[in-house]
Amino acid sequence: MITVGAMRVFVTGGTGALGRYAVPALVAAGHTVTALARTPDKADALAVQGARPVVVSLFDPSALAAAFVGHDAVLNLATAMPSTIGFAFRRAWRATERVRTEGSAAVVDAATTAGVGRLVQESVAMLYRDHGSRWVDEEAPVDHYPAAVGNHAAEASAHRFGAAGGTAVVLRFGLFYGPGARHSEQMFAAARRHLGPVLGPPENYLSSIHLADAASAVVAALGAPTGTFNVVDDEPLTKRAYADALAEAARTTSLLRMPGRAGLLFGDRLTPLTRSLRVNNARFRASADWAPRYPSAREGWNATAAAFGRSP
Ligand SMILES: NC(=O)c1ccc[n+]([C@@H]2O[C@H](COP(=O)([O-])OP(=O)(O)OC[C@H]3O[C@@H](n4cnc5c(N)ncnc54)[C@H](OP(=O)(O)O)[C@@H]3O)[C@@H](O)[C@H]2O)c1
Repeated sequence: MITVGAMRVFVTGGTGALGRYAVPALVAAGHTVTALARTPDKADALAVQGARPVVVSLFDPSALAAAFVGHDAVLNLATAMPSTIGFAFRRAWRATERVRTEGSAAVVDAATTAGVGRLVQESVAMLYRDHGSRWVDEEAPVDHYPAAVGNHAAEASAHRFGAAGGTAVVLRFGLFYGPGARHSEQMFAAARRHLGPVLGPPENYLSSIHLADAASAVVAALGAPTGTFNVVDDEPLTKRAYADALAEAARTTSLLRMPGRAGLLFGDRLTPLTRSLRVNNARFRASADWAPRYPSAREGWNATAAAFGRSP
């Protein structure tokens, strides 16, 4: 068992889908949380969750360094992902690329200047190449498709922090779902209309993680050693089984699974979502005090459906 004493942590992205779960989880674990806020209403929301909001630009290393002084760890959870439709358009990725490239570099520069010892950097498991039905661990080769530019840059920033002597923990998350994950509400609403979300061949694997489990992984990362870790649930499902799990949670049947193989027509613009990724979480489970509450999307979607009241 890895025990982590109370830390002073600075969170970026604390107002996002993951951050809204991670900030209260950090507070509940006894940590003192400071979080970046961009607007007064977001600052208020952070304060309600028990964090101290600080208004500072992610792209200003000297202001960030001043804000980071006195913290034991910085958790960089900021992203600006495109909408599901925007996924296919290159320009829609620019905001998140800037956050992950320029922003993560500024975070590392500032954390180094401020003498912060630990960095946790959000990344994605969709960086791996298609592995068919084979399990994927952290040693598997990654891919450099266009939408992955920002994630590779963020990981490189984290490695730079580690090379300079800090503890750098990179978390490669599976596909988020659960209340608060934008696409979850869309998928659940579609399931109620008998539409099953299957992007790519139905026999391909999808590795997902409920937002509550992603947040508990962020907390556990405060006790992990330097390294890159997959944060996915225990049992990735095939896309067909995933659509069935969603339909079952919605108390309906998946009559039309779409867009299926037609998703392949978008080539590398949709490749993070169409490829087969059966990702293994063993390294993180062995290195940190973490286990997912929802072992697969079956349990996680049931809980999500209950939270949505089965009709969002
Ligand atoms: N692994 C995955 O499956 C995965 C990964 C990432 C995102 N997503 C999904 O994609 C959807 C959108 O995600 P998202 O992460 O882009 O949005 P999000 O959930 O709104 O969170 C993004 C966070 O980063 C912050 N941020 C954005 N731009 C920033 C900037 N320039 N400077 C400082 N902070 C900035 C946001 O602040 P504000 O609140 O002020 O905007 C927010 O706290 C979510 O529903 C999420 O579930 C999935």
